[in-house]
Amino acid sequence: MKLDNLSDLHPRYVEAFKILDSYIDDFLKGFSSGVNVPSGVRPKNVAFIGVGGSGIIGDIASAILSNSGVSSGVFKGYEINSNQWDAVFAISYSGETAETLEAVLGIVEENPRVVAITSGGRLEKVVKKIGGDVVRIRPGIQPRYALPSMLGATLGVLCSMKLIPHSITKYIENSRNFLNTIKSERKFDENPAKRAATRIHGRLPIIYAYDRVWPVGYRLKCQLNENAKMFCHIGYLPEALHNDVEGLPDDFIVVVPRIDAEHEGIRAGIDALRDNLGEDRVMELRAGGEDFIQEVFQLLMMVDYISVYLAVLRDVDPISIPRISGLRRANKYYEKVFRRVDGFIG
Ligand code: PA5
Repeated sequence: MKLDNLSDLHPRYVEAFKILDSYIDDFLKGFSSGVNVPSGVRPKNVAFIGVGGSGIIGDIASAILSNSGVSSGVFKGYEINSNQWDAVFAISYSGETAETLEAVLGIVEENPRVVAITSGGRLEKVVKKIGGDVVRIRPGIQPRYALPSMLGATLGVLCSMKLIPHSITKYIENSRNFLNTIKSERKFDENPAKRAATRIHGRLPIIYAYDRVWPVGYRLKCQLNENAKMFCHIGYLPEALHNDVEGLPDDFIVVVPRIDAEHEGIRAGIDALRDNLGEDRVMELRAGGEDFIQEVFQLLMMVDYISVYLAVLRDVDPISIPRISGLRRANKYYEKVFRRVDGFIG
């Protein structure tokens, strides 16, 4: 079993697993930095700006806030709708992402409270200039590998703003046993992430996800794209059962991240799908946990490990992203944004 013989691994995989192994510690460090940000007035509506490995933080935070009575919006582009946001989180690991920078410049006039979650770059300078808060996160890694650090920092600030309870850190701490079951040294038979990666390998992953677990499904899609260099598709449940299923390709596997608290209709829909397509074609991902936050956090860890196991199985580099980097260099509009931002910073 290839995934159990990892002693001679290429340094790129060793690096990736080493970062993943610090998932919980990185989250908790990020949380400690975020929770130190002054609380200010408790916001009633919160926007999250960011793309890619930083943008997913907004999806997760928004899912966590969804039952808290606070309204939230997630923006993954150059603009954010004008909604008199009380607080805006600008999340960019590098601080050099043109979409995020332009979206932040676009709300300066409205004067909301702005919090940057970043390792530095132009974003830090812009947000300092407008009097916002900056939470610096773990430097020197690829943005998507900094999810625990950025998520911890964001939830720390939300905790300081009294939008989520401090007790969530207990659920993260309690996730260490689960983390140990998916690490690379844990053998295949006892490792749900290795088993899942092996089932996906050689097939086209079709991810189906629903409401509050959507960010986990979307994270899996993005991690399979960037780490395992795989194409994959994602559909929304139950909607996908009314269209998507008719177009399934030949060699697919449906992957469904699940939490305990799901609508009875969703559960029945997944059961029907499994009966219809066959056990072998439908794989669920479950992590369990005492609370929604813990379930989602454990699922996020699991999908991240799955993506690196798939990189190993496919012999691809899980760290570098040459096409995305090339597109960043080739996009002429980005230069325009940077000039505008530099003029603003002065
Ligand atoms: O994971 C990645 O490397 C990308 O998806 C980046 O997150 C994306 O390009 C945005 O960059 P940043 O996170 O620095 O804003």
